[in-house]
Amino acid sequence: MQRIPAGFLPPVAMDSGSDTPMYQQLSDWFRRAISSGQLRPGQRVPSTRSLANELGISRIPVLGAYEQLQSEGFLETFTGAGTCVARAIPSDLTVPRAKLARPEPAAMHGGSRRTSLRAAQMRTPEATWLANMGAFRVGLPALDAFPAALWSKLVSRHARHLSAEAMGYGDPMGHLPLREAIAEYLGAARAVRCNASQILITTGSQQALQICAHVLLDPGERVWMEDPGYPGAHQALRTAGAELVPVPVDAEGIDVAHGARVGADARAVYISPSHQFPLGMAMSASRRMQLLHWAASNDAWIIEDDYDSEYRFGSRPLSSLQGADTHARVIYLGTFSKVMFPALRLGYVVVPEDLVADFHAGRDAIDTFSSMLYQSAMTEFIREGHFARHIRSMRTLYMQRREAVHEAIRKYLGERLEVIGTEAGMQLAGLLPHGVDDVAVSRKAATKGVSVRPLTPCYLEPPSRGGLLLGYGGANLAQIDEGVRRLAECF
Ligand SMILES: Cc1ncc(COP(=O)(O)O)c(C=O)c1O
Repeated sequence: MQRIPAGFLPPVAMDSGSDTPMYQQLSDWFRRAISSGQLRPGQRVPSTRSLANELGISRIPVLGAYEQLQSEGFLETFTGAGTCVARAIPSDLTVPRAKLARPEPAAMHGGSRRTSLRAAQMRTPEATWLANMGAFRVGLPALDAFPAALWSKLVSRHARHLSAEAMGYGDPMGHLPLREAIAEYLGAARAVRCNASQILITTGSQQALQICAHVLLDPGERVWMEDPGYPGAHQALRTAGAELVPVPVDAEGIDVAHGARVGADARAVYISPSHQFPLGMAMSASRRMQLLHWAASNDAWIIEDDYDSEYRFGSRPLSSLQGADTHARVIYLGTFSKVMFPALRLGYVVVPEDLVADFHAGRDAIDTFSSMLYQSAMTEFIREGHFARHIRSMRTLYMQRREAVHEAIRKYLGERLEVIGTEAGMQLAGLLPHGVDDVAVSRKAATKGVSVRPLTPCYLEPPSRGGLLLGYGGANLAQIDEGVRRLAECF
């Protein structure tokens, strides 16, 4: 017997001034709700007593309406199980729920209804590579190696001991102990110079980018964007009305001299200097100095996205750009999506001291603050040393996985994928031979359960050569070998 739990009862409209008796208004309402699909066959309805209470009327008209609806076959009663909409009502007599939300054709406007220009700017190109969880989904860490039991113990402990303070409204800047732990970690691991008062906890870097764009820029202002660059940054900056100025990257990172020529009036620069997204190179020391100097002389902000720099192979992690900034022009973004897991939705911004009040207001205006439960569990994860331990063990694992991708590429793809930028992170980029359409290869790979991200949609200016981004963090050795073998069939 199919059982549908009691859902929310849509509001019942009763008119006490009407000539129609109450019991009849009520039975008419139920008939309409059932035939329009708002109440589904098998769904529990309230008891006569609680419905009478809710409507503030006597129980007699409710009893009368239920009796009538039962005798007509709309409702049925089971001892101990209460009253339900009759299961025997054929579902084709009721309107499917999804249909209710869909607009009538008459309300459509040229095939689609009008929404804002901003909505169009938020749209990203078709993303077939997101359709599956197989190898090589970009941005996914090794979820199979995450200490899930330990994490859930910490979360449960905090859930069991929620104080009233932890259940109320928190500080928009975030939970202070977590901000202190992050400030300490960033100082030691990334040479970031800050104190806890400058840390703003966000719902991941995507929100951090959004807050930066809204706090730093007015609509129409120009921003240098690494080309190719991170589509999430394109989205966030465009949504705030910024105009993106494509600035090419080469082996040393963003070409600052080019940026200064084409975007002298820019208000901000978005960069990923430790591990350029998507090509993978690190920004050279001289370019870093050039960019810091340009920003200081032109009253411009630098948004430094340090999304996966914990993982550097063969050398120590590079210091952050923020740490070398003597003019407080850098806004530093970090995320727990790669070192923990993306669904945690926790990230942070290191804000120059004089901008703290504006970022505080920006976060407050968007969604107030992040989940307290996860913030406190995360604090303990760091304080008890699990965070540092997990990063260390992932570094070794990703090194093995990276070696395995290289080997599989040599074995199955040979010259067809020219691998670049592989000293860091959980992903590698490869260039395809001239004339090969990377979007088409990616689409074909998706049909074989392989998720590779084409490079072309990361460009603002059309590239001369396409390429693919392979995220190996979330794929084990067998999936890596099989994934590259299948990818080779797509050329
Ligand atoms: C360049 C870059 N920045 C940031 C992020 C992380 O985003 P979030 O913290 O919103 O999960 C990603 C994830 O793929 C990324 O590739």
